Amino acid sequence: MNAATRAVVRSALARGWDVLGVHHGYSGLIEGDLRPLSLRAVGGIIQLAGTFLGTTRCEMLRTEAGRARALATLKDHDIAALLIIGGNGSQTGAFDLYRHGAPVVGIASTIDNDLYGTEVSLGATTAVDVALQAINQLRATASSMTRAFLVEVMGRNCGYLALMAGIAGGAEAILVPETETDPEQLAQELSAAYDRGKSHAIAVVAEGAKYNSEALIRHFREHRARLGFELRATCLGHVQRGGAPGVFDRMLGTLLGAAAVDAVSDGQFGVLVGMSGGKPSRTPLEQVAGRARPADLQLLKLARVLAM
Ligand code: F6P
Repeated sequence: MNAATRAVVRSALARGWDVLGVHHGYSGLIEGDLRPLSLRAVGGIIQLAGTFLGTTRCEMLRTEAGRARALATLKDHDIAALLIIGGNGSQTGAFDLYRHGAPVVGIASTIDNDLYGTEVSLGATTAVDVALQAINQLRATASSMTRAFLVEVMGRNCGYLALMAGIAGGAEAILVPETETDPEQLAQELSAAYDRGKSHAIAVVAEGAKYNSEALIRHFREHRARLGFELRATCLGHVQRGGAPGVFDRMLGTLLGAAAVDAVSDGQFGVLVGMSGGKPSRTPLEQVAGRARPADLQLLKLARVLAM
């Protein structure tokens, strides 16, 4: 998000426009917390996780009163374009503001990577890298102690993070929300890995899977006296949102930020700027709002072959 903000600010200033930063997301828009951004204000941030502007989950934007105050802020500050960096919730809010007359352009950003209108969203690959580092480190204990591990990753109702981390991390099993996996089937998959001579068994579990790591541990505690191996669970949680952006995310943020300024310059509003076919693209927010793109299940088939 910082790379995108930096690119927006510098591209817009290069065109001679004034730029204000909205602090704390939609709450700041409702409260009128807008402050000028200079070239220097966005210096030294491209390598930082999170967003230096701050952000919130804002329930008030869903109310008529909240939306009216947000629209009033835009009017009071004579705002010609509002760029919104975020995932499903943010882009659904963006579409709502656009329908009520706000000149909005969205920038695709979510570790869940479940937005329509883009092949990849800001933050997703960095979040996978964080999960991979954890899996690498857990494997050391798993191998040394012949233990099995469940590693729970975020992703809300999408299995993208689990699939990527599972395949790139060499997991023996992957559980995603898009398919149902029974705990007994998982136990068999992990046992089979030991039977094939492996010294460890790692399952990557999406938080939105029918059985998350907590439910699986509970199930095994209640229904199986002995699995035949020791099982531990690690829930990565918000750690995944704090990774320093790698080159891919820094470039993605830069390209999407600059492309969003191009959209404003072309007078094209009500669109999400994302990546399609390796190039910045514009998709009507109408096609993006209120929807979540599922993970590619072909990859799950491949993962099963590779886990052998
Ligand atoms: O949408 C991004 C995400 O990190 C999801 O993966 C996760 O389910 C959710 O946000 C967590 O939200 P919060 O930080 O509000 O608990």
